[in-house]
Amino acid sequence: MPDPVPAFLPEALPQLAGEPLASATALPKQRLIIAITGATGAVYGVRLLQFLQPQPQVETHLLISEAGLLSLHQELHMKRRDVEKLADAFYSVRDVGATLASGSFQSEGMVLAPCSMKTLAAIAHGFSDNLITRAADVVLKERRRLVLMVREAPLNLAHLRNMTAVTEMGGIIFPPVPAFYQHPKNVDDIIDHTLGRVLDLFGLDNSLAPRWQGMAPGKSA
Ligand SMILES: Cc1cc2nc3c(=O)[nH]c(=O)nc-3n(C[C@H](O)[C@H](O)[C@H](O)COP(=O)(O)O)c2cc1C
Repeated sequence: MPDPVPAFLPEALPQLAGEPLASATALPKQRLIIAITGATGAVYGVRLLQFLQPQPQVETHLLISEAGLLSLHQELHMKRRDVEKLADAFYSVRDVGATLASGSFQSEGMVLAPCSMKTLAAIAHGFSDNLITRAADVVLKERRRLVLMVREAPLNLAHLRNMTAVTEMGGIIFPPVPAFYQHPKNVDDIIDHTLGRVLDLFGLDNSLAPRWQGMAPGKSA
């Protein structure tokens, strides 16, 4: 149930109390903005696109930073066009006049898979110097879902403070940290487990990883 309208707000302004705007139109498809930046782990973005490509109800909008292209090449031997083929739409990061740069572009939100410390810093400080950081800024200002699959180790104080700042603004910091309780057989299992949890955050249906069924009877310590 939505929170009651605070006493200081007129009843005529329900949107300020968390109600959807009456003019907001439901989209026929679930739009997801996906950005690949220059942290290691380009495979997370690529696997996400591969999983979503055959799903007719989801529309993917892809951004790749210059450094993201480097890791795609280094880690997966992929070129820009190989990855762009997996998306419904793609953009140059220099095109700050693209639709994604405006709050009027409706979406479920945005995931940065993976997210470098540089892009994290830009988002944390509202420094919208390219279409990736601008689109993330827009997602935050429109109070939509923003998931940053940040990747660095170890972390310095700037990294930690920037993650705190993004969290305070409503973004979700989701480092792609493996889980072992489902006994992954290979790297693909580890990647899918993480991406299944990311898709859950957007309410996107997925069976990328088995869901935890609880400890087997008699197996708990
Ligand atoms: C092979 C390679 C791996 C990198 N891995 C990381 C990483 O895991 N995390 C990170 O924050 N930066 C990493 N970097 C550095 C970023 O690519 C660099 O800071 C870049 O400026 C990020 O730009 P972008 O955020 O626009 O993609 C890596 C760079 C290279 C070439």
